[in-house]
Amino acid sequence: MEDKTWQVYNPQGDRRVIVTKQLPGDRWLDILRGAGCRVDVCTSTDILGIGEIHAAIGTRCSGAIGQLTEVWGEKLFSALKDAGGTVYSNYAVGYNNVDVDAATRHGICVGNTPGVLTETTAEMAVALTFAAARRVVEADRFMREGRFEGWLPTLFLGKLLSRKTLGIIGAGRIGAAYARMMVEGYKMDLLYYDLRRNGVLEEYIRAYADFLESRGERPVTCRRAESIDELLQTADVVSLHPLLDASTHHMINAERLELMKRNVILVNASRGPLIDEEALVEHCRSNPDFRAGLDVFEDEPEMKPGLSNLDNVVIMPHLGSATGWTREGMSILAARNIAGILMGYPAWKKDSSLSFLEDAPPKAVPSIVNAEEMNLPEYV
Ligand code: DGY
Repeated sequence: MEDKTWQVYNPQGDRRVIVTKQLPGDRWLDILRGAGCRVDVCTSTDILGIGEIHAAIGTRCSGAIGQLTEVWGEKLFSALKDAGGTVYSNYAVGYNNVDVDAATRHGICVGNTPGVLTETTAEMAVALTFAAARRVVEADRFMREGRFEGWLPTLFLGKLLSRKTLGIIGAGRIGAAYARMMVEGYKMDLLYYDLRRNGVLEEYIRAYADFLESRGERPVTCRRAESIDELLQTADVVSLHPLLDASTHHMINAERLELMKRNVILVNASRGPLIDEEALVEHCRSNPDFRAGLDVFEDEPEMKPGLSNLDNVVIMPHLGSATGWTREGMSILAARNIAGILMGYPAWKKDSSLSFLEDAPPKAVPSIVNAEEMNLPEYV
């Protein structure tokens, strides 16, 4: 195994924090320096294994910022605790790579980075939806190969989305933002499935429907589906936004693909294992009008055999949150999670975390997912 290089910032800092990848911007480093931390950053782009992270934690480590590509579980949290650590932050809003129960057992607070990637990830889902609907990637390849010989009435016919039915599974922050973009932008009717009713989203769409009606246009509709199957049978576009856990793993499988319309568009900018990717390859092969837009994969960074040969699938390398503003915001939130716990701040429980990007942020820890279990006081 090649030895990784770690760059050390503020070597005289009396608390040591490890960061397993270089992060964008430099405000996050200033935050950690300001909290008296020496910061060790791994300069390699390779995905670090548990053994490498364990070695980096060593015998003195107060906190760590890790990546969604790493498995943070019993071994690492126990090592972090033994090294004097009290906090870990994922550099992501999703934390399916983290065993939060193990962290809690070892007295480690677990942070994530919500709020700054909502619109960015929703925009990626919109981009994938249209790339699939209008066959953007296939047509781009066709041009580059010099195959365009003139306009034709039948060339690359795609799918019109205006006034069709949008189905979203998971109406949390990102799902709801995507739904609003598609409903407002393309006047789609919304059908959503979520264990909890999203009253704010429903109310917003009702107000938009009233507005359309006041202009003499047909209003849009919004309804919570009784079941996933009902949504899959009805929608023209299906976009996935639930958390990944045991209950949502392979929620789209061979049987459910069969329920969907033959020419549906399936979008996943959430987590790869929501879809049984082998079943998807098979389904796309036998249903050429079915289209998928994928930003995430079951065994990232690998794809299941055959996926990359399919013209009816658009594939992106997990770029949902990849804008400069968002990635810098994620760095700041992750650093404030670490610094806030080390400075003994209370937990922030309000909705938006955007005030933590400002120069004078609240004296609180932006987002600790096990705050209750860790008995952290709440910021008031
Ligand atoms: C997240 O934060 O969970 C995203 O997947 C990163 O792009």
